[in-house]
Amino acid sequence: MDLSDRRAEYTKHALDASDLAECPFAQFEKWFKEAEACELDEPNAFCLATADATGQPSTRIVLLKAFSAEGLVFYTNYESRKARELDANPQVSANFLWLPLQRQVNVTGTVERVSKAESLKYFLSRPFASQLGAWTSPQSKVIGSRQLLEAKLDQMKRKFADGKVPLPDHWGGYRIVPKAFEFWQGGASRLHDRFMYRWDESGNWSAPERLAP
Ligand SMILES: Cc1cc2nc3c(=O)[nH]c(=O)nc-3n(C[C@H](O)[C@H](O)[C@H](O)COP(=O)(O)O)c2cc1C
Repeated sequence: MDLSDRRAEYTKHALDASDLAECPFAQFEKWFKEAEACELDEPNAFCLATADATGQPSTRIVLLKAFSAEGLVFYTNYESRKARELDANPQVSANFLWLPLQRQVNVTGTVERVSKAESLKYFLSRPFASQLGAWTSPQSKVIGSRQLLEAKLDQMKRKFADGKVPLPDHWGGYRIVPKAFEFWQGGASRLHDRFMYRWDESGNWSAPERLAP
């Protein structure tokens, strides 16, 4: 299949140093709100890259559930492939793609587990079916059939028939503590605008630097 004729011009917006907030979290919040406002699907979905102990990378989409100046939080199964990789190597990269705005944000950093109390608070806010899902699915493990999964779900429905589902030990959040943020805005003739903030050794965010596209 030849895709060489597929091309789009990126001309919707431009990004200049004077448009950027001093702090990358404030800039992220501004762009996130704009992504929400344009009603694209799942503006909080991002591609999370991890790497195993040999350096082999893997990626998957997860959902951002909170962010603040402390970092970006997502929830998952602590026995999944990503979690095993994070146990061996906490370094991650995250990519948010907001195509209708012709924007992406790249974040690199390290992860830490959020507190049990924070995971519990979020878990309790989830719908009953999602809570049961966390108990049902041995995420990333090989399973014999979908029927096995459905049988396990029925078992969990009976077990927690009173509607009170406890937080599983194998489930919770990670916080990505960023070391760098890149804000990318598509531009005409492939001359995109890119700005990088870096966390420096003195414990401050650098002023954003323009990168060549
Ligand atoms: C839109 C979307 C949102 C997702 N959100 C999550 C999530 O928040 N947490 C999660 O563990 N998996 C989420 N998944 C599933 C993951 O992409 C992935 O299949 C799963 O976490 C297993 O990944 P792993 O085997 O690399 O650990 C989502 C998938 C999609 C397409």
